Amino acid sequence: MIIKPMIQGVIARSAHPHGCKEAIRRQISYCRTANPISQGPKRALILGASSGFGLATRIALAFGGAQTETLGVSFERGPSEKGTGSAGWYNNIYFRQAAEQAGIKAVNLVGDAFSPAIRQQVIDTLRAQFDGQVDLIVYSLASGVRPDPATGEFWRSSIKPIGKPYQGTTLDLERQILTETILPPATEQEIHNTVKVMGGEDWASWIETLIQADVLAPGCKTMAYSYIGSSHTNPIYHHGTLGRAKAHLHQTADQLHQQLATVGGEAYVAVCKALITKASVFIPGLSPYLLALFQVMKAKGLHEGCIEQMQRLLSHRLYPDSGPVITDHQRLIRVDDWELSEDVQQEVSRLLTQMTAKNFRELGDMDGYLNDFLNLNGFGFDNIDYTRPISPEELVRLKP
Ligand code: NAI
Ligand code: NA
Repeated sequence: MIIKPMIQGVIARSAHPHGCKEAIRRQISYCRTANPISQGPKRALILGASSGFGLATRIALAFGGAQTETLGVSFERGPSEKGTGSAGWYNNIYFRQAAEQAGIKAVNLVGDAFSPAIRQQVIDTLRAQFDGQVDLIVYSLASGVRPDPATGEFWRSSIKPIGKPYQGTTLDLERQILTETILPPATEQEIHNTVKVMGGEDWASWIETLIQADVLAPGCKTMAYSYIGSSHTNPIYHHGTLGRAKAHLHQTADQLHQQLATVGGEAYVAVCKALITKASVFIPGLSPYLLALFQVMKAKGLHEGCIEQMQRLLSHRLYPDSGPVITDHQRLIRVDDWELSEDVQQEVSRLLTQMTAKNFRELGDMDGYLNDFLNLNGFGFDNIDYTRPISPEELVRLKP
């Protein structure tokens, strides 16, 4: 079997297991030589561990100096008649293999993180394999839907502006062109549902459940991820439905921070840089900004991918060599500082005002964007032989 990239709009329909393994290997080797996390946690639970920020957090925790034991939860598909399985499925497996080779415990649970069943599995696994204690809980889920536990129906998020329509351009990855996007403002119901899916309610429920189960170690920390952005992204993000959901997440962090004080615990939101992940390519209008941002940050030597962001976040913010967690005056951890620096944003503005459907490939970092997108699914690595057949039996034998 030869596996080729299949892209539909902004969705990748195939994943290359050997390339996923290579992506993990490269992230691990970065962490091994990076500025180390010297005060890291012993045991961590990562919700959303199989891709993007959650995966990078897990790799940095294990290989970036702290040798943290991790329990990872994710929603991924294994190989079947229908396809090769999702990239996250292989990321879980190859991460666990690498961690075990290094003598670092890693356990994967695959299932719906919104369900009561997986909460119980997490508690059982913590008790059986992690001394019934966890020192860090990272909440890094990105989903378009969440089941309403009361009715069994789904809340669906909408990525829309609030108050007025949004007009901009979006990169179609399949055809590699910029297309015009017009989005009507969200309804009250759409705002409400997006907050339900991407706000802090489920995070709070997880922490409540884990407190009840008495599996939080003294001094346990929890952290969720957010984005704020700048004037270029405000209309579609910060001032839109996603921004409302993130505002709710920030409030939840403050509420959890008080609640956790009883076990000496702490809760934070980390505001991160805009990066190319399975989730972020869905955000209409973000792609021209990312093309310009990557171009500028690479030219200035300030560019970070997911792994560099998470290593810096853990080593310099959440677990600094000495002293408390480093936050801004709103108690937010900021690793979007380089993205939002004035000279970066000025250069980005300059590029964006010149960018058209004709010149975006030259003006923006099109190669970097495409390569990051391909890498998410194990494609585009120059040292992987994509013509070499893979045996389906080999894939079926791999277990989370
Ligand atoms: P991603 O799509 O790469 O990762 C999402 C993870 O959630 C995957 O591991 C997936 O398996 C898991 N997941 C989704 N639904 C699940 C379910 N029902 N049960 C169990 N696991 C489930 O997304 P990304 O970008 O890493 O997003 C993580 C967080 O980071 C989000 O809160 C996002 O808003 C935030 N963030 C992302 C930025 C970006 O530029 N990508 C910037 C700043 C914040
Ligand atoms: Na450090």
